[in-house]
Amino acid sequence: MIVAANFKTNLNRAKTAAYVKELESFIQANGVTKDIRIFPPFTALDRFECSFKVGAQNAYPADHGAYTGEIGTEQLDEFGINMILIGHSERRHVIKESQESIAQKYDFFKEKGYEIVYCIGEPLEIRELGNDELLEYLDAQLEGIDLSYEKLVVAYEPVWAIGTGKVPTLSDIELIHNALKGRISKPILYGGSVKPDNTREICAIDSVDGVLVGGASLTVESFGKIITEAKE
Ligand code: PGA
Repeated sequence: MIVAANFKTNLNRAKTAAYVKELESFIQANGVTKDIRIFPPFTALDRFECSFKVGAQNAYPADHGAYTGEIGTEQLDEFGINMILIGHSERRHVIKESQESIAQKYDFFKEKGYEIVYCIGEPLEIRELGNDELLEYLDAQLEGIDLSYEKLVVAYEPVWAIGTGKVPTLSDIELIHNALKGRISKPILYGGSVKPDNTREICAIDSVDGVLVGGASLTVESFGKIITEAKE
């Protein structure tokens, strides 16, 4: 099981450093062997002493250059970061990244050998159209993406479930994950309002290989419960 925390624009440098220490103590104390990953904001990145993986929530597809407000691999190398989230719904829908630019970013970081957690998910108006339309929408988000890349993990996150407390039914999660498994032979995480009290049932679905957690990952108390509830 992969259990990943996306802090988004939350926690500062000091709070992240304290979180990392606390999470590491939790992992050691509980003998956790699951694949734990965290994605802090840029300003909190560091060379942490920890047994879990730390990644970037985003970066510009360049080593360095004139890209005001962005960071490249030169900045990530400083902290030994070689894992990135690409295609998160907030980057697609709030920052307005296109599928084309997302696919370019994917290719760049693939060439660099980064581990990639690639996110896909449909907005509510697509969900309401039905399963065929939903899967067609997800297929379009896989366009230009090399699904055979060995360091790829996919996260299915319905946009309407992110940060809303709403979660698809377990049978809907199963249906979508099964359909994705027919297309992708990589681990597939579920994301969208994962909480300590729904982790166990979501992770019990065979085609769910882990979870990507936003809001409920912001304290080690809550994220630790999710780690415990996720199946081995
Ligand atoms: P959430 O976010 O857990 O707060 O719904 C998940 C995500 O956006 O990755």
